[in-house]
Amino acid sequence: MGHTTAILTAAGSGLRLGHPEPKALVRLHETPLLQHAARRLVMSGVIDHLVVTAPDGHESICRALLPEADVVVGGATRQESVAAGLARVPDSSDVVLVHDAARPLASPELIRRVVAAVRAGHRAVVPGVPVTDTITAVDPGAEGATAARGTVPRAGLRAVQTPQGFDRTVLDAAHAAHRLDGGLVTDDAGLVELLGEPVWLVPGEESAMKITTARDLALAELLLGAES
Ligand code: C5P
Repeated sequence: MGHTTAILTAAGSGLRLGHPEPKALVRLHETPLLQHAARRLVMSGVIDHLVVTAPDGHESICRALLPEADVVVGGATRQESVAAGLARVPDSSDVVLVHDAARPLASPELIRRVVAAVRAGHRAVVPGVPVTDTITAVDPGAEGATAARGTVPRAGLRAVQTPQGFDRTVLDAAHAAHRLDGGLVTDDAGLVELLGEPVWLVPGEESAMKITTARDLALAELLLGAES
């Protein structure tokens, strides 16, 4: 059996959520998002070590919430936070999972599915869900009435979620190669793609939705209510 570390990114702000405190510390049914996500990682039974990237100045509260985790201060961007977490992955770990505290309800089944796919030999694995909106391209920065630059056939698209699972050497190489990509890449699978390494999808789930706005939080409250 191999050894798996999960890096839980939690260093983002709560700005778009309209909260003064960092998003990962916002409560969903009394429990901070960070703790919801961490509990599900532990419940999956496939995570041996947990690293949390905490918002600057909130390390001790994160330690108090998650005494079993290795808490590090995150960076200015998500990519920098993941890099800070990667530096704390024990040598014994051959698989690394990167998961967002902003997706607090990703299920233990989904976590197991991703880790199983990596252990089956796929070196980079992400959950993906079909897209329900029609997606069209626009010029970068476009606002207001603007020219549509081409609609992409929806059947060939998936929205990518976390947790994302990687062979440890692939994730290390992706971060080492693209430390300064200018912020164009929004997740770790994107960095791995830049290496030319194939990325694989497994079925994602509705409950792994990302909480960005107050509306997302209200929806997560409903989903959690339906779960219990
Ligand atoms: O802001 P957004 O929801 O896209 O962030 C995704 C995840 O990355 C969140 O869990 C957030 O806490 C984390 N993050 C981070 N460090 C940053 C920015 C975001 O760990 N500097």
